[in-house]
Amino acid sequence: MNLILLGPPGAGKGTQAKMLIKRYGIPQISTGDILRAAVKEQTPMGVKAKAFMDAGALVPDEVVVGIVEERLQQQDCRGGYILDGFPRTVAQADSLSRTLQKNESDIDHVLALTVRSEELLSRITGRRTCRSCGAGYHLLFDPPKSPETCTECGGELYQRDDDREETIRRRLDVYQEQTAPLISYYAERNLLKTVDGMGEMAVIQANLVQIIESSRG
Ligand code: AP5
Repeated sequence: MNLILLGPPGAGKGTQAKMLIKRYGIPQISTGDILRAAVKEQTPMGVKAKAFMDAGALVPDEVVVGIVEERLQQQDCRGGYILDGFPRTVAQADSLSRTLQKNESDIDHVLALTVRSEELLSRITGRRTCRSCGAGYHLLFDPPKSPETCTECGGELYQRDDDREETIRRRLDVYQEQTAPLISYYAERNLLKTVDGMGEMAVIQANLVQIIESSRG
């Protein structure tokens, strides 16, 4: 089962992907997480990507396409995967489609989360992530027991560099300009399922699972 989670920054793609991987035992491929790890390790790719990410811009297509092509070849993707944050441009979607065709594979569903724009800003500014295990929280909507410590593993919680208000606004504009066209792109290919991303995380998860299960017969 190969899935794409689509939606603007803060829509809950990462949150829902983490719940889905527990249920289905397939990996989450988050280009954002892979890029942040490269930035942290200061690899040549990370150094190049950092300037784009800090500015709220997209990292060039050829960089992310290369990352995903390599990742999809790994053993743990054989039983399926969840793409979170990729593709993000029509060029990336075309490239993914060519790669899948070559491998005689396909995407089963593109699950698009819709969230009102005023909610996106408050979701992102309140987000905190664990440096050790990567668990995600929200200071108001999904609070850790202590605001600076991961409830799961005791690691330090941090705020992403690109989660400052000015950068968030830029990321939301970039989404509208470059990523939103993928909604019609995948609708035309009969792959798009739109899911209301407002409300309780567990209810959104149940709606996603219902779509996935209904097509598995
Ligand atoms: P990336 O890391 O992919 O960020 P994003 O797409 O901007 O998405 P976010 O991670 O901000 O949001 P999300 O939808 O995962 O929300 P989350 O579940 O965390 O990309 C970062 C950067 O990397 C890009 O700007 C770009 O520079 C680069 N990049 C990455 N991929 C690229 C690509 N393909 N091409 C080019 N460049 C690329 O939820 C947000 C918060 O809300 C959390 O605190 C959560 O607890 C809370 N929350 C979640 N659901 C709910 C709910 N139902 N109710 C209340 N709160 C909720």
